[in-house]
Amino acid sequence: MAGALKFPDNFLWGTATSPTQVEGHVANEWTEYVAPDGGHCRLACNHYHRYAEDVAWMAQLGVNAYRLGIEWSRLQAAPFAPLNRQELERYVDLLDRLKAAGITPMVVLHHFSNPLWITSAGGWLNPATVPAFVDYVTKLVTALKERVGLWNTFNEPDTYASLTYLLGGFPPFRKWRLLSYRKTIQHMAEAHVRVGEVIRRAGHGGRTPEIGIAKNWTFFGPFERHALWDHLLAAISHHAFNGYVLDAFLGGPRRAASTFLGVNYYGLARFKNFEPMVPAGGACRKRLARLGVVCDDMFERHPGGLGIILKNFHRRYGLPLYITEHGAASSDEDFRIRDLTEHLRELHGAVKGGVDVRGFFYWSLLDNFEWQFGYSKKFGLLAVDFTDEKLPRKMTRVGEFYRGICRAGAAVAPQDSSVASR
Ligand code: NOJ
Repeated sequence: MAGALKFPDNFLWGTATSPTQVEGHVANEWTEYVAPDGGHCRLACNHYHRYAEDVAWMAQLGVNAYRLGIEWSRLQAAPFAPLNRQELERYVDLLDRLKAAGITPMVVLHHFSNPLWITSAGGWLNPATVPAFVDYVTKLVTALKERVGLWNTFNEPDTYASLTYLLGGFPPFRKWRLLSYRKTIQHMAEAHVRVGEVIRRAGHGGRTPEIGIAKNWTFFGPFERHALWDHLLAAISHHAFNGYVLDAFLGGPRRAASTFLGVNYYGLARFKNFEPMVPAGGACRKRLARLGVVCDDMFERHPGGLGIILKNFHRRYGLPLYITEHGAASSDEDFRIRDLTEHLRELHGAVKGGVDVRGFFYWSLLDNFEWQFGYSKKFGLLAVDFTDEKLPRKMTRVGEFYRGICRAGAAVAPQDSSVASR
């Protein structure tokens, strides 16, 4: 294949989902939420009942890794209660099916959702949530330690804390509560250190388990160079969402709690007179296009930034890295294929340059419930028809393109993939 960029043989080529977004039948703080497009998570992709079929799809995609969440609210009915055996068995069966398909699991312990008894006790603002989480994880890890060696404690703590307490996007939809934001981050960081210890002690069949968070990295900047106020807003955002959070989880002695750092990378948010110029922030797509801003249905794209941030993390923390999420939401499949190609080129450059990146997880396996946006954002390698009650899955062209990459263990250019150019 001309121009194929080869990755190391043991590289993980994966995909990712989260319980609230795909499983359905959850009872957590999202269950009652209805998005502006009318979408809710009560059935989602019904992955809860259809996981065997979804594992078969993954095998067809040729991925060798899957980043999945385990839903706390399913497993514990009350603080310090024993884990629900039946629900645990379901996850065990899922893990066994992945193993049989040659797919390595990375398990996420917290992905934007909590049991209702945690929510009603104040969520992550309440310091008592930390020991409750440690208890849950201790029981879970004891049950799964032979099957799971890659543990992702918290997914995007910055996104969770900011959307719950600063930007009003996630339940309980509070705004501008800076202290609550900071408290949430600090409690999660403390919990990360404590469960890291639990996971390390439990081991993984005689091997050392891997432990890390997934940090969402967004670049912030001004739209116009001379706009000092937008420079200032970008600097404040960078500090609050990137600097402060990384310091809480990885600063000083806390660095020792992690064996890897996961990076969720989507791109760039620029401000124009305090307004974020991204669709996820409400900016109009047509206007953005007129201004020459290249974005998916969420963020401005900035493939070059991926190489920059990987090199920066490598220098700063010296930890192995995983791209725990990257993907694009768009109904334009050529755009998504180009976007993936450009990001993998950057990733390859970083690996070639000596950055220890061990895997890439495409977000997402399925079109799914995109939180406050409902079902309007199409991220799936597999498209799901939510208008059909059978929720049929269908391979997308991006999925076929990604299959070529997983099979070759190399980033191929779109023209090298027979399917991409069809
Ligand atoms: C980050 C989150 O982890 C995931 O839940 C979300 O769907 C994607 N990014 C896309 O926005």
